[in-house]
Amino acid sequence: MTDKTATLADAHFVRAAERFEHSPISQQLAALTDQVFPLLSLSKAQHWLDFGAGTGAVSVPLAAQVQQVTALDTSAAMLSKLIDKNIANIATLEQDIFCGLHDVYDGVISSMALHHVADIEKLLTCMHQCLHQGGQLALVDLYQEDGSFHGDNAGKGVVHFGFAPQQLLEIAQRVGFKDLSYREIFNIEHKNGRRYPLFVLLGRA
Ligand SMILES: C[S@@+](CC[C@H](N)C(=O)[O-])C[C@H]1O[C@@H](n2cnc3c(N)ncnc32)[C@H](O)[C@@H]1O
Repeated sequence: MTDKTATLADAHFVRAAERFEHSPISQQLAALTDQVFPLLSLSKAQHWLDFGAGTGAVSVPLAAQVQQVTALDTSAAMLSKLIDKNIANIATLEQDIFCGLHDVYDGVISSMALHHVADIEKLLTCMHQCLHQGGQLALVDLYQEDGSFHGDNAGKGVVHFGFAPQQLLEIAQRVGFKDLSYREIFNIEHKNGRRYPLFVLLGRA
């Protein structure tokens, strides 16, 4: 994210945090992990990083399947909603992933956060560097769209109108990920009457 985009995104999520989980989109996305988790190898010995964890839509169900979840997000307002849930094996980390990570993880997961990050290659490099060899990657985001999903893209700090997953896969390959694949995983029914498909990109470090 550029500094200006980061500021816009942070201001947006300060406003959005209060009602975020009650939005029709978040309510649909609550079922996402039922589709994604069966594609992963999860165990009670693992420590996962949830990038752009927000209020915990992924972190909370993930914490029931693994030993530890680190929920990383730049937005204190979003993370405060997750902290309120008081889940013992979720540690929140309020920082930008580009500021560096001290731990090494068994998996990195992310839902609907990539479209806020301008430099995807740099992001995937950070993710690769913070994974154990063989660690799992699972990234969920929108397929390419026309900007109508978020509407006020600039105001919400959105820098990508979704992605072509094949291009994302090629970037992931370039930075060192292996066993890469993607598939359509979910559809969001928007109040504008359109459906927006989501993909999951899977890989290993
Ligand atoms: C649309 S929300 C998704 C939240 C959650 N993953 C979900 O599926 O409900 C995107 C989140 O990504 C966070 N975010 C955006 N850019 C980030 C960055 N560079 N580092 C950490 N978090 C970031 C935002 O603060 C926001 O909480």
